[in-house]
Amino acid sequence: MNAHTISLVLFACFAFGLPLWAMQNNSYPPGNVHNCSGECYERWKQETGGVLAIVAAQAEEKASATPAQLGEKAYAGCIACHGAAGEGGIGPQLAGQSAAEIVDKLMQYKRGETRGAQSALMWSQAQQLSDMDIDNIAAFIETR
Ligand code: HEC
Repeated sequence: MNAHTISLVLFACFAFGLPLWAMQNNSYPPGNVHNCSGECYERWKQETGGVLAIVAAQAEEKASATPAQLGEKAYAGCIACHGAAGEGGIGPQLAGQSAAEIVDKLMQYKRGETRGAQSALMWSQAQQLSDMDIDNIAAFIETR
């Protein structure tokens, strides 16, 4: 064996050995379960309860959220025109109005009715909201 052959063999050991060694040692990084199978996956499942438990926990979190909390999320698309706390901007101030007033006004826009000079801006907004969204948003605005 000359020096050239030896260095070739050494290279081959590294080139094929390193990835193999890395695969054996795939302890999963938290929050990242990709490339995690076999023992690694079993450990992840034991610690988190697996995919089903995670989905169930997320569903429970959503079910236990109050209407105002859900409304705050649905209100995200309104901030640009009505302000983060409903203080107004391009659109009128919403803070200080009762939930009933907000529901009533949004339902009018949803039906395509004209309330002010710029109602057209609100028609498409309101049409994207379910009745449930409108109730939740109104509950959120009432807290502002
Ligand atoms: C592109 C800007 C814009 C966005 C986005 C927008 N609005 Fe409006 N909003 C307006 C304007 C302008 C008016 C006044 C319309 C009119 O003249 O009738 C208005 C009116 C309203 C009114 C009636 C207020 C009053 O006291 O007369 C409510 C309630 C309302 N918007 C809620 C929302 C909600 C909830 C969202 C998010 C889902 C939203 N708006 C998104 C611009 C916007």
